[in-house]
Amino acid sequence: MAERTDSNSGRISPTAHYTGYVWYRNGLSRDALATRRGFVMFHSLEPFMRLGSVLTGGLTLEGALLQRHQLIDATLQRLVEHGKVRQIVEIAGGLSARGVRFAERYRQQGLVYVEGDLPEMAERKRATLAAAGLVAPNHQIVPLNALVDDGALSLMQATRDIVDPEQGTAVVTEGLLPYFELPAVEAIWGRVDRFLRGFPHGVYVSDLNLRSAADGLSAVESFRRFLSWYSGGTVQWHFEEESEAVASLRRLGFASVRVHTPPAPRPRGAAALVSRLKWGRPGPPDVVRVLEAETAA
Ligand SMILES: C[S@@+](CC[C@H](N)C(=O)[O-])C[C@H]1O[C@@H](n2cnc3c(N)ncnc32)[C@H](O)[C@@H]1O
Repeated sequence: MAERTDSNSGRISPTAHYTGYVWYRNGLSRDALATRRGFVMFHSLEPFMRLGSVLTGGLTLEGALLQRHQLIDATLQRLVEHGKVRQIVEIAGGLSARGVRFAERYRQQGLVYVEGDLPEMAERKRATLAAAGLVAPNHQIVPLNALVDDGALSLMQATRDIVDPEQGTAVVTEGLLPYFELPAVEAIWGRVDRFLRGFPHGVYVSDLNLRSAADGLSAVESFRRFLSWYSGGTVQWHFEEESEAVASLRRLGFASVRVHTPPAPRPRGAAALVSRLKWGRPGPPDVVRVLEAETAA
């Protein structure tokens, strides 16, 4: 496929300010990566989020984002510490500090962390990290477009001069897939699988949003609508159940797929009471899932 520019892609980037601010607020980032825009977005939405949280028995967007981010961290941490992975390529890293944190923490172990994002965001991040003195030799930022097969911005070419084909490698996407239609998501997964087959061990890690997990959660549905409006597209949860996503990844060539769920949140006070009444359990249902898909050996 020739280089394709998706008009939706450019409009997704502002959402990186919101998540970037959430990571910062919760001690998972660095001052330089927190933006004024993220601060304003977060605090203008906060009253609605609080109300939504009470109505859903304790579920908050911030809480769900944190669970997602930390579960992806924990999955990657295990892969690095068990020696399966010496390189991580994060697609659509946005203003997340995971690359900074992992490159710093596992530098002695020889970990190489490559982040790719659309050219404007990649340039912004590179300049921000340079100005803040957060550049590390084992952390590279490259312009990359997840939607293209060939050309300088493709996953293969953008990372070609950095990654070592002899090392176990993980590819990560976080908060990217819901912005695209299912055929585009499956095309991304196919590209990731083909890329990872070039390494002795390949694993893909990503968040997964399921329609069934959002059933009856008006806060989740409202957020989905808000994001659709904000990004000028349709934000969607592509699969009803985990098994459908697993089947899709297997069909595209992945050899094995695991789906991780974080420990359920345990709200207190009014939210816990609402939860009991609404769900018959001490906390709201789990909405966060993280995929870990391995390529064939
Ligand atoms: C919601 S943000 C998530 C950022 C980061 N992963 C996080 O969780 O904080 C979505 C990111 O996707 C990037 N993006 C959008 N379209 C893309 C594409 N076609 N290829 C690569 N990145 C893309 C945006 O620039 C933005 O940084």
